[in-house]
Amino acid sequence: MCDLKELFDSCAFCYDDYMRSKGLYQTEKKILKKLFHLLNDKTILDLGCGTGELSCYISGHTTAKIIGMDISPKMIEIANKKKKKYNLNNISFYNLDIYSIPQSWNFDFIICSFILGYLRDKNSFINIINKICKEEVILIGVNEKLTIPTKEGEIKKHWEKIDYNKLEKNLLSINLKFNGKFIEKNIFIKRYTKF
Ligand SMILES: C[S@@+](CC[C@H](N)C(=O)[O-])C[C@H]1O[C@@H](n2cnc3c(N)ncnc32)[C@H](O)[C@@H]1O
Repeated sequence: MCDLKELFDSCAFCYDDYMRSKGLYQTEKKILKKLFHLLNDKTILDLGCGTGELSCYISGHTTAKIIGMDISPKMIEIANKKKKKYNLNNISFYNLDIYSIPQSWNFDFIICSFILGYLRDKNSFINIINKICKEEVILIGVNEKLTIPTKEGEIKKHWEKIDYNKLEKNLLSINLKFNGKFIEKNIFIKRYTKF
């Protein structure tokens, strides 16, 4: 079995086509739009940003300052091409593993879109969120398994179903409280706010 970085590198070239063909980006954006008024002038981290589609969308419609990071160099390469194409100045992309996030980083908002199922160490994830989140965590997920075309079988081996009840308990332990959700078709967005 190859590692996640290699796997996501191998499907980076077709990732956007796949997401669009399934209508996933379109639905995500439709819901995310409802939160734009909260994001102006805020600092945002897009954890596991993939090809940067959501980061670029927020960047183009708000005055937020955004950092997108992903473990896959190929995903980041595509994200940087989009940034250049759309001439977006309030966004930076980094090829970084979430578990190596610099201690000094902190953000008003953290966006986790279709990534939680791939994170191997959920406790470390909670500790990291605790250190870097100042205001709110936005979790975006889909009510079905993503069957990304390339090496799909391998990718599924890395994916595990999220126990949201357990996750919510853990978030509560770091003072993050469930603050509502939006659902559109098969996509949901859950908000967790610091209290
Ligand atoms: C299903 S994709 C989601 C991409 C994007 N967030 C979206 O909404 O389309 C999952 C992404 O998480 C990234 N990823 C997985 N584990 C990671 C880690 N430990 N650190 C950073 N990125 C990671 C993968 O490289 C991949 O791009």
